[in-house]
Amino acid sequence: MVERTTLRVGGPARWLIETQAEGDIPAALQFARAQDCPWFAMGGGSNLLVSDTGFAGVVIRLAHSGIIDLGGGRLAVAAGEPWDRLVAWSVERSLAGIECLSGIPGTVGATPVQNVGAYGQEVAQTIEQVRAWDTVAAQWVELGAGECGFSYRASRFNQQDRGRFLISQVIFQLRPDGSPTLVYPELADRKPATLAEARAAVIEIRRGKAMLLEAGRAESRSAGSFFKNPTVAPDLIATIMAAAGSAPPTYPATGGLRKISAAWLLERSGFNKGYRPPTGGAGISSHHVLALVNYGGATAAEVMALAESMQAAVEQRFGVRLEIEPVRLGFEPSAADGDLCG
Ligand code: EPU
Repeated sequence: MVERTTLRVGGPARWLIETQAEGDIPAALQFARAQDCPWFAMGGGSNLLVSDTGFAGVVIRLAHSGIIDLGGGRLAVAAGEPWDRLVAWSVERSLAGIECLSGIPGTVGATPVQNVGAYGQEVAQTIEQVRAWDTVAAQWVELGAGECGFSYRASRFNQQDRGRFLISQVIFQLRPDGSPTLVYPELADRKPATLAEARAAVIEIRRGKAMLLEAGRAESRSAGSFFKNPTVAPDLIATIMAAAGSAPPTYPATGGLRKISAAWLLERSGFNKGYRPPTGGAGISSHHVLALVNYGGATAAEVMALAESMQAAVEQRFGVRLEIEPVRLGFEPSAADGDLCG
C-alpha cells in the first residue's frame, strides 16, 4: 500500500479492486465474501496508516469519478472524484460553500466519513445527500444530511456505523454566485473578495504549513493532521492554563464544550516542529506539529511509536488523551488474517 497512501508506508493488500462504476461496489463485496476475506473501502489514501504487515483482505478503492451538474448549485459527484478537482470546478463556476476546503487531498466519497473541515467550512454544511451501498441491508440507500450524524471530524460512517456503508456518490448543494466564507481569522485577514481569491489564499496558507500535498516535497509524505483537536470541558481548560502559564487557542464545540489546539498542547509537552526521534524515518513536520511525516523509509511501526510517545507526553502533562485522526488498517488481527482468507 506504499504507493496508494500519502504517508507512503505500509505492507501490501492481498487484493485491490478499483471501482470504475457504481455497480462494481456490490461485485467487489461479493468477491470478498467468496474468498471469506475482510474488506476495506478506501478513497485517496490521504488519511490512512497501513501496518507494515499490510492487510490480509480485499481493499476496495472507490475510484469511479465524475461531476453531474443538477442545476441551481446542486452537484452529484461520484465517490472517486478527486476532492480538490471538485473544489476548483465549483470555484470556476462561482459556486460557493467549499472554497475554504481547497488544497485538501483525497476523494469526494471520503469527505463525509470524517466530515472534512478547514478554515471555517465543513462538508456537512453543503452535503445534501449521500448515496451508499448498505452492506447490512444489501441495498442502495440515500441518506439525507440529517441522517449522517455529522459532528467534528465524525459521522455515522466512522462512528456507530463504521464499515457498514460504502459511499458511491455525494450530492452537494452549493450557493450559486455566493461569496467566500471568511470566518477563520487567518483567512479573513487576507480579505479575499472572490471565491477564486479565497481558494488561492487557502492554498497559500496550507502550503506555509506543509499541509498541501505536493509531489517531490518530503513533508508531503504525511496524512495531514495526525491528531484531532480534543474537545474538553471549560474547567479542564482552566487547569491546562494553570499548568502551562498561558491560555491555549480554543474554538467552540457542541454541548458547552471547547475544542483546544492539539498542536499547542504538543508544543508544551516537549514536541516541536521538525522533531525527529534518534532513529527511523518518521518525524514531525517542520511546519506544523500535528503532521507526522515520513522523511524517507519510515515504517508504520515508527510512525505509531512516535505518535504514542506524543500522546503519552500530552496525557502526562495535561491529563488529555489525544485521539489519532487517520484511519489505521491492518493493525488488529482479524478473523481472516489466519488461513481462512484466500
Ligand atoms: N499551533 C501550534 N503549533 C503548530 C501549529 C499550530 O501551536 O505547529 C497552534 C497555533 O496557536 C494556532 C493553532 O494551533 O493558532 C491552530 O492551528 P491551525 O490554524 O493550523 O489549526 P489546527 O487546529 O492545528 C485544524 C485542522 C486542519 C485544518 C486547520 C485549518 C484538525 C485536527 N486539524 O488544524 O485539518 O487544515 O484546522 O482549519 O482539526 C486535517 O484534518 O488533516 C487538517 C489538516
